[in-house]
Amino acid sequence: MQMGCMLVITDDTGRSAGLAQDLAAGAPIALVDLYDPSIPSEPASTLLVDVLDLRPDTAARLRHVLTRTPRGAPLVVLLHKDDPRGRMLALALGATRTLCPPFDIPRLRASLARPAVVPDAEPVPWCALQVASQARNFLTTVFVPDRPLTPAVVDTGSAFIEQAIQDTGIRDWIRAVRRFDDITHQHCLLVAGLAAAFGQALGLGEQECHRLTRAALLHDVGKIHVPTAILNKPGKLDANEMAVMKRHPEMGHAMLAGQSFQPEMLQVVRSHHEMLDGSGYPDKLKAAEIPDLVRVLTVCDIYAALIERRPYKAPMASGKAFAILESMTGRLDATVVDAFRPVAAAFIPRFPQDA
Ligand SMILES: [Fe+2]
Ligand SMILES: [Fe+2]
Repeated sequence: MQMGCMLVITDDTGRSAGLAQDLAAGAPIALVDLYDPSIPSEPASTLLVDVLDLRPDTAARLRHVLTRTPRGAPLVVLLHKDDPRGRMLALALGATRTLCPPFDIPRLRASLARPAVVPDAEPVPWCALQVASQARNFLTTVFVPDRPLTPAVVDTGSAFIEQAIQDTGIRDWIRAVRRFDDITHQHCLLVAGLAAAFGQALGLGEQECHRLTRAALLHDVGKIHVPTAILNKPGKLDANEMAVMKRHPEMGHAMLAGQSFQPEMLQVVRSHHEMLDGSGYPDKLKAAEIPDLVRVLTVCDIYAALIERRPYKAPMASGKAFAILESMTGRLDATVVDAFRPVAAAFIPRFPQDA
């Protein structure tokens, strides 16, 4: 095998050979049979898993093959059937990317060409992946256009996330959620997790914690109405796209008005992009006009956006992201940013300010 080839691990070499050749476009490939593995010793540029039915038993075989494979390359798993369990199994294997049908060559090539994610040296615990996947399933079923959102549904989701943070800790929660492909799901779950951890770090009472997590889960609900092509665009938005994106706070507010949500929840949805100096949107509110709950959510929201993995950017390190929050003097509430320090520190233990 030549250095830097694509190594394809498959349960059917006949099926995968054609796909791999088309995908590699003349570059070297090596096929490894899942049931009769002969592992090349040289490192590969990409590991591609093409297994028709990813089940616990096939995942166990894959794990065995992967432990004998030189690592360091991105691990891409083709999910022939997009179900939550398959995604969890792929993530537990250490997948840096999962891809669902249709597996047409231009789309697969574009996905593979995105910046590689450096695999975590430390695996994410299975329980964290499981609970994060369950939370994402919740979002996929309830945060959909034309389905009315009620306070009771949001309560169920926020209680679930608070329990998850208590069980897994914020660090594993972030590492698990960051592996999701869908940017909006990743973002909502990160903000909600950070808000729950912030509430717990602040020692808030149960009701206050619920309020914070609920607000976090809801804050970007208006993005349901932003086209996916804009939400998941693998690059910078142009002016028109940005204008559409910036309408999500008002759209979210309009969606929830009249559904018995508390006014403070509606305000978080509408105002979480406002800045203390009046430079935010949509209403250009200033200092005293921005309530505490919104200020807290804005800090969690910006921090989450910085540490997220996006198709066009690697996740920012925790310390650097926190330094950006600190640099936003006059725009963010400095007291809230200071109070947030332990939550950011919990994500990276060797956070400089805590060393
Ligand atoms: Fe937002
Ligand atoms: Fe957000």
